Amino acid sequence: MNLSEYIRNIENFPKAGVNFKDITPLLASSDAVEHCVQQLLVLIDHQKIDKVAAIESRGFFFGTLLAQKLNAGFVPIRKPGKLPYKTLKEPYQLEYGLDALEIHEDAIKSGERVLLHDDVLATGGTARAACNLIEQLGGEIVQCNFLLELEFLNGIKKLRSHPVKSLLKY
Ligand code: PRP
Ligand code: MG
Repeated sequence: MNLSEYIRNIENFPKAGVNFKDITPLLASSDAVEHCVQQLLVLIDHQKIDKVAAIESRGFFFGTLLAQKLNAGFVPIRKPGKLPYKTLKEPYQLEYGLDALEIHEDAIKSGERVLLHDDVLATGGTARAACNLIEQLGGEIVQCNFLLELEFLNGIKKLRSHPVKSLLKY
């Protein structure tokens, strides 16, 4: 199966000059979703994973599916103000301004082996902030894993201390 056939390009979204990778055609096909999950598992290569941490919102689509397949727990990393219990917060740079991510302080125990998943690696700011949260809780990041990597944005540089894997590169 050629997964790129299930990724739709939307030019000038969310703003002029950006070529948005729309994964909704992929999500609409149970065969493509199953294929993606299987291919993501190949990237993980039987490494032991205790927790899959995924980033709101598009990271959640495959994060929970992967956690189930890996017999691992699922940890949501969310935008500020969404998680109800005590949280750690990590700010990160957007193209214009700052945003932040939060994690429950009891979501990961020290020494647990964590897979970080998100749909897209672009500039890497989002994934870097998520890695910082996981590491503040003592988690060991086994792999940062993405459906798509926009290589020209060099996000991998922000994650250079961790193994980075993705199914498709643009
Ligand atoms: C998008 C995408 C990644 C992030 C990548 O999420 O889903 O999470 O941007 O960008 P970066 O590598 O430059 O930091 P977005 O913040 O648009 O939110 P969403 O997942 O809720 O749509
Ligand atoms: Mg996102």
